[in-house]
Amino acid sequence: MSSKFDETLYRKELATQWLGQRLCYFDELESTNTYLKKIPSEEVQQGLLCLTDHQTKGRGQYERRWESEQHANLTFSLAFLPTSAERFHVLTLACALALVKYLNEMLEAPCSCISWPNDVMLNDKKVAGFLTESVFSGNSFDRLVIGIGINVNQRQFSEELSDIATSICLEMDKPVGRESFLAGLLSRIERNYNLWHRHKFELLKSINRNIKGYGQWVGLMVDDELQEDTYKLLGIDEKGQLLMLNQDAGIESFSYEQIRLVTD
Ligand code: BTN
Repeated sequence: MSSKFDETLYRKELATQWLGQRLCYFDELESTNTYLKKIPSEEVQQGLLCLTDHQTKGRGQYERRWESEQHANLTFSLAFLPTSAERFHVLTLACALALVKYLNEMLEAPCSCISWPNDVMLNDKKVAGFLTESVFSGNSFDRLVIGIGINVNQRQFSEELSDIATSICLEMDKPVGRESFLAGLLSRIERNYNLWHRHKFELLKSINRNIKGYGQWVGLMVDDELQEDTYKLLGIDEKGQLLMLNQDAGIESFSYEQIRLVTD
């Protein structure tokens, strides 16, 4: 199944108040994140969606590239206009949680989870990645751009990725309509954004329960160095810092950039 994204169908399915109501669609674009970062403030509104069917220079975490088959998947970015960039890691995780819950509903099994810092896994393989960037104008915060790449209908991956990546279609064994899937996802992201905006504790609890390794003893890489001891993963706090229990029963908190988890 590989045809152009159908904007009319998408609009028919969309049930959000504001998220994704304005869409900038491109047949081809270097990167949807770069696009939403570069456009002038006057052209950005809360919930603006940029989507392309062929992303030629998709960017991932840690300066990696994000490759995605043309017309098969979803590569898009969302612009948010909170008053500051504070707690933006929590917002990224809130978006990831929306996807995890949606996939678990669709597949009728708890087969999806968040892999720290912000990958979404499906049956232990990566199905989606998130890249959040903040935009400043001089010293003042302007907008957050959350870029989301989801493998939806891609059936084949490069040799390098085939053991670690999957798509929704491969796991469900049937193609998925991208337009209605995206519309459904945006409703869930909008709901989680509202919880995030209102500092709702239930959101944090739900994120934590869906992080791979939550409540377990896991390996830890701090600044690229594997630690000798294992740590118990206690979850994130309201700022998005990761809380870990060490072997001396002390709680240590780590910033988003600092660590990677080693789970089995
Ligand atoms: C990662 O897993 O490393 C994050 C991948 C994020 C990819 C998405 S695709 C849409 C948006 N535009 C980009 O250039 N990157 C993000």
